[in-house]
Amino acid sequence: MVCLGNICRSPLAEGILKSKVNSNKVFVDSAGTGAYHVGNLPDSRSIAVAKKYSIDITNQKARKFSFDDFKEFDVIYAMDKNNYQNIIALSISEEELLKVKMILNEVKPNKNYEVPDPYYGGDAGFENVYRMLDDACDVIADKLK
Ligand code: 4NP
Repeated sequence: MVCLGNICRSPLAEGILKSKVNSNKVFVDSAGTGAYHVGNLPDSRSIAVAKKYSIDITNQKARKFSFDDFKEFDVIYAMDKNNYQNIIALSISEEELLKVKMILNEVKPNKNYEVPDPYYGGDAGFENVYRMLDDACDVIADKLK
């Protein structure tokens, strides 16, 4: 799960998907394409909306996406088009490139809809992001069963 800062959207995506899959079978992680918040906890508004739905994301620490992640992971979900472009710019093969997907295409295939960056908005933006990611993670979790 990859966004820009790895403090708002992708920590939620990580927490939500982890809550829906068997951790013995599926390894879920998140990262940011930017390094501004490396080492930080998720944004307090992400922590709060996750907690509202009984998901604890306070064990997460922001890290920067690395080209090594292409080797580590089978699928890489981008939250928006900028993230997508920044991730694929680091890929070195067709195989790596094809691992990268826009997460909302799981719900609305081929539309390339974006999970909006909620950082500069209010709490409602985080609730909206949570619901979008919850829908997408339902589809992803079903595929992993
Ligand atoms: P995220 O949100 O990409 O969903 O973690 C952001 C967090 C911080 C910044 C931008 C987006 N920032 O510019 O600091």
